[in-house]
Amino acid sequence: MTMFEQIGLHALRLLDPEKAHGIALKTLKLGMAGSYDASDHSCLATNVFDRNFKNPIGIAAGFDKHCEALPETLALGPGFTEIGGVAPKPQAGNPKPRLFRLTEDQAVINRFGFNSLGHEVVASRLEEDRKAGVRGIVGVNLAINKTTEDPAEDYAEGIRVFGAFADFLTINISSPNTAGLRDLQGEAALASLLDHSTKAHAALDVPKKPALLVKVAPDLDDSEISAISDLAVSFQANGLAGLVVSNTTIARPPHLKSPLSAETGGLSGAPLFESSTSVLRSFARRLDGRLPIIGVGGVTSGEHAYLKIKAGASLVQLYSALVYQGPSLISRIKQELADLLQRDGIAHVSDAVGRDL
Ligand SMILES: Cc1cc2nc3c(=O)[nH]c(=O)nc-3n(C[C@H](O)[C@H](O)[C@H](O)COP(=O)(O)O)c2cc1C
Repeated sequence: MTMFEQIGLHALRLLDPEKAHGIALKTLKLGMAGSYDASDHSCLATNVFDRNFKNPIGIAAGFDKHCEALPETLALGPGFTEIGGVAPKPQAGNPKPRLFRLTEDQAVINRFGFNSLGHEVVASRLEEDRKAGVRGIVGVNLAINKTTEDPAEDYAEGIRVFGAFADFLTINISSPNTAGLRDLQGEAALASLLDHSTKAHAALDVPKKPALLVKVAPDLDDSEISAISDLAVSFQANGLAGLVVSNTTIARPPHLKSPLSAETGGLSGAPLFESSTSVLRSFARRLDGRLPIIGVGGVTSGEHAYLKIKAGASLVQLYSALVYQGPSLISRIKQELADLLQRDGIAHVSDAVGRDL
């Protein structure tokens, strides 16, 4: 961590976490967050979803929900980033406070409940960025409105609105803070949702369609993992391109030290690593290479990213660790990952995918 980052992170920690995140994004936007090494080792380049990633390390959904600082986020050196979640109509989300730092545990709890500026504002920002020449790989995390009567149509609208500007679209059915959302992971509900979503995706009239992904929770048992995997594979021919494993957890590991661990919401950061990686491994075993997976949950180092990759992730995302380690974490993880690949005699990161299975 740079000295500049140490001072900045210390100052931000004195503030309310949601305010601190807003200031951090604005600082990034204004170019005041320092400059970072965005170079890449050739061993990290990989092709997934028919797209060339300069490295497999991405920023997860929730970091920049409203597409406020896209070029500046990409300048930190990730191989890709995911903006959102974005709901169709603007909505306020849950009452504050709704974001908590569990510093002793290097973790975060959030219960935002999809606060969003809505499709129109966020899509026009993304369109502007694209027009201005922002070329990095960008995904959009699709959310629903709290009062919607037709969640599948909310996602379909997201596919239509963002289809021309995004490299991938993530159908997020795994945030724990919107009542009933996680029920969409059930077999019948998911089959119907995937049918509707893949039809909207197939109807897109764009030069290159975005990859369509589904993001799942870490709180799934083996039979749910098998059912979701089999359904996902059955929709592959209709355009489903992969899974994102996983979102935050509603579980509270017994070893948490922070008194804030009793707060309601989704837990992310270091304590999520074990469970999300174990669920990732189960999905990878069942999918058996038929669909790629983005592994996310508790990544704090290059070693963690490597473990996700060896457990079956073709790409890796992170968010919470940035709160504690600052933006230079991205280049550190890339360096550590490249060193680990070299140590193990692996020439390309794609050769490490699923090695531990
Ligand atoms: C404050 C916050 C907001 C988030 N918002 C979203 C969201 O809108 N959509 C989504 O799919 N995941 C969201 N996530 C989950 C992250 O994308 C990621 O799956 C999770 O935090 C685990 O990764 P991490 O341990 O590296 O943070 C959010 C996470 C945090 C901490």
